[in-house]
Amino acid sequence: MTVSSAPGKVYLFGEHAVVYGEPAIPCAVERRATVSVTARDDDHVRVRAEDLSLNGFTVEYSGSTSDRPDVDVPAPLVEAAVGYIDAAVEQARDAADAPDAGFDITVQSDIPLGAGLGSSAAVVVAGIDAATRELGVELSPREIADRAYQAEYEVQDGQASRADTFCCAMGGAVRVEGDDCRTIDAPALPFVIGFDGGAGDTGTLVAGVRDLREQYDFAADTVETIGDIVRRGETLLADADPDEDPSDEFLSELGGFMNFNHGLLEALGVSSRSLDSMVWSAREAGAHGAKLTGAGGGGCIVAIDPTPETMTALRFTPGCEDAFRAELATEGVRVE
Ligand code: PMV
Repeated sequence: MTVSSAPGKVYLFGEHAVVYGEPAIPCAVERRATVSVTARDDDHVRVRAEDLSLNGFTVEYSGSTSDRPDVDVPAPLVEAAVGYIDAAVEQARDAADAPDAGFDITVQSDIPLGAGLGSSAAVVVAGIDAATRELGVELSPREIADRAYQAEYEVQDGQASRADTFCCAMGGAVRVEGDDCRTIDAPALPFVIGFDGGAGDTGTLVAGVRDLREQYDFAADTVETIGDIVRRGETLLADADPDEDPSDEFLSELGGFMNFNHGLLEALGVSSRSLDSMVWSAREAGAHGAKLTGAGGGGCIVAIDPTPETMTALRFTPGCEDAFRAELATEGVRVE
């Protein structure tokens, strides 16, 4: 058996705009998806998934990926999770030149599903790593990122950027602009995450922004302005000492950019009442900044606060189901 894990991520800046070639800065966080893979003697794939949301549920599914039998799937999100595993298996088979390889796969994740924390990217990245290693092939994190991107691209009908998969594979803070993906230095940022218990539909939200952008110049300008914020944020990060605790002054400026970024995402129609109320609650509790993370519509916000105040305030915010601290994950995909 081979066991690999990969971290989830938050978007410090730039979701949605990254789809149109603007840069984005996601940061890996210490919430991981763990995938255990055992090679089988036949070409079947059996997937067992646990705790794929904070509420937790289990699904078992057997069959070869090309001939998947009907299964009683409890939720669309679980169906999506199985789809991502299928795509990861295809990538592993291709990388190892073993088209008929079969696997028993167990997925465990403490990343809320479909909530803007890169749950699918972490599962795909860890799955490709574990399955290829199980077949005796060791890919570099960059190769895994590339294959994970192909897998997500396929499952999401061509709507995925490279941001999630690259960040989950490499760990730390990364910068993605089109096909140009690189790791960047960042100090240990005191992230606090609020989760409303829900999930947005990424495809619908991306399509909504696309329509607005095509219809109105001011919406296209809004997307470009998000790119400007990302570039300013990047300069700020580059000037900080990654080995020192970040100063209040630095966090205030960074948080101000996050607030601006959230306002523009809200203008583009991808926030929600629960996300906005968590963002405001965080700000009122003294967070340096707060914004939604990921596609939006529901799911998670990320705030910056080294004190416990924001987490406490979020826990009492109507519409917030859970709040937790998440350290920057310096390690990306790894063998457990
Ligand atoms: O919700 P997530 O974590 O899948 O992030 C989606 C981010 C988008 O920019 C909206 C889409 C993308 O693929 O970059």
